[in-house]
Amino acid sequence: MYHNPVLLKQSVDDLVTNPDGTYVDCTFGGGGHSREILNRLSDKGRLFSFDQDLDALKNTIDDPRFTLINQNFRFLENSLLMHSISQVDGILADLGVSSHQFDEADRGFSTRSNAPLDMRMNVMQNLDAKRVINEYGEEELADIFYYYGELREARKLARDIVHHRKTKSIETTEDLKKLFSYIPPHKVNKFYAQLFQAIRIEVNQELEVLKEMLVQAYNILKPEGRLVVISYHSLEDRLVKRFLKNGMFEGEPERDIYGNYKKAFELVKSKAIIPDEKEIEENSRARSAKMRTGIKV
Ligand SMILES: C[S@@+](CC[C@H](N)C(=O)[O-])C[C@H]1O[C@@H](n2cnc3c(N)ncnc32)[C@H](O)[C@@H]1O
Repeated sequence: MYHNPVLLKQSVDDLVTNPDGTYVDCTFGGGGHSREILNRLSDKGRLFSFDQDLDALKNTIDDPRFTLINQNFRFLENSLLMHSISQVDGILADLGVSSHQFDEADRGFSTRSNAPLDMRMNVMQNLDAKRVINEYGEEELADIFYYYGELREARKLARDIVHHRKTKSIETTEDLKKLFSYIPPHKVNKFYAQLFQAIRIEVNQELEVLKEMLVQAYNILKPEGRLVVISYHSLEDRLVKRFLKNGMFEGEPERDIYGNYKKAFELVKSKAIIPDEKEIEENSRARSAKMRTGIKV
């Protein structure tokens, strides 16, 4: 299976409030969420879905209401304008990589299989994991491991990489893992997961593109339009939470003339929605999912 959609019913229930409306799925993947959105739309409804991965295109849906756009969602606003769409009723983003991307061993996302250091969601882009590991400076690497992987030993990891690559370039996921054979066995799985997450976030500029998309999503949503985001790690969730609460990522939101904070969104639930035990049992990728929905004020 290409990808088993997470929080499918909950997300689409939150998203679609107008069957005749225009909707966007920023992360088409296997098309699970997109199909469910189409199920809820009338003949007048429309859905525009994005995916930057060429592999996702083969899952396209043959439906006159549907358009699949092979583009990074950081170009949300302009890509929709090319289809004469300037306002939409709802936007969904189910972030991160698909199971298919993890399962395709040669793409280098999985900590379990040996593969060239790649980790690009869009195989047309220049930056890949091999360049990050072999070309970035020691300090830059340390920052990536610390901030994106939340790895406390970031400085040492960066030093080990830079020391090793002086004699031999680091080509594969196995080459990389071998450098850290001193990590105790009971910690190694979590360590690799954090290390690979950090590199993947850098290669795909995941936090930057998420911020760009959220700002554009706000711009193109109609008043009362809904933004639903499912994230899989705390760095993403923190950005989404702040943006839905304050309409910005840092600092204090603006106040109105009475001194009250100006709201960008009304939250459907104050706390994030997480999958129930049954879903997590059936789909391990659901384990870390958190969903937040905002209604544009
Ligand atoms: C978790 S999967 C989505 C699965 C989908 N909801 C489903 O039901 O099959 C994330 C997908 O979004 C795509 N993606 C991630 N970041 C993207 C971005 N910045 N622009 C476009 N597509 C992106 C990935 O290539 C991947 O196919």
